[in-house]
Amino acid sequence: MRIKLEEVDKKGAISVEEAIARRRSRRSFKRTKLTKKHLSHLIWSAGKAPSAGATYPLELYVVIGADCVEDIDAGVYHTERGYSQLEVHKEGDLRTELAYACLSQMFVAHAPVSFVIAAEYERTTRRYGDRGVRYVLIEVGHVSQNVYLQCEALGLATVAIGAFHDDAVARVLNLPRQHRPLYVMPVGVSAEK
Ligand SMILES: Cc1cc2nc3c(=O)[nH]c(=O)nc-3n(C[C@H](O)[C@H](O)[C@H](O)COP(=O)(O)O)c2cc1C
Repeated sequence: MRIKLEEVDKKGAISVEEAIARRRSRRSFKRTKLTKKHLSHLIWSAGKAPSAGATYPLELYVVIGADCVEDIDAGVYHTERGYSQLEVHKEGDLRTELAYACLSQMFVAHAPVSFVIAAEYERTTRRYGDRGVRYVLIEVGHVSQNVYLQCEALGLATVAIGAFHDDAVARVLNLPRQHRPLYVMPVGVSAEK
């Protein structure tokens, strides 16, 4: 099943300076559902990062809980077509399993959505050799920062998670062998006062 994402409104509620100034890692999330518009903005932002030699080694997966995003069922989704659509990759609410794979950082299970950014290193190392590994790791930082800033602009909370068992995350999401997870970013409406 394919889900077409929405067109993104480029006039944000806050300036880029405000988003940078306000950005912090936020780890508590309300039970409030996200909208398809939220998801469309976040995925669009993730797709707007620079890529070494335009080799685009990163793949974005979205773990969605039950009753967590308007009109979208629980499951793992893969972003496709220039980050404009989602394709179901695996069904079910896998947030608790994902939290355990992230060394039991249980706030992951409370976020309605988590992004998992994975890399296919070969796309970049084919061109740049070993230095390509460095480029891929730099690139995931660009994507993550875009997601952080977009969250601030939408009034959402997120945190970049690097502490997880790679194989466990890959197993929970049923990732293809060549897609190695680099970052997990839970996203939701902030529950902070
Ligand atoms: C590479 C990297 C890995 C991180 N991994 C985790 C993590 O596993 N769990 C977590 O709660 N925060 C993680 N963070 C977030 C940092 O704890 C956070 O950025 C730092 O405390 C500074 O706070 P700030 O983001 O609010 O400025 C990570 C950040 C980076 C850059």
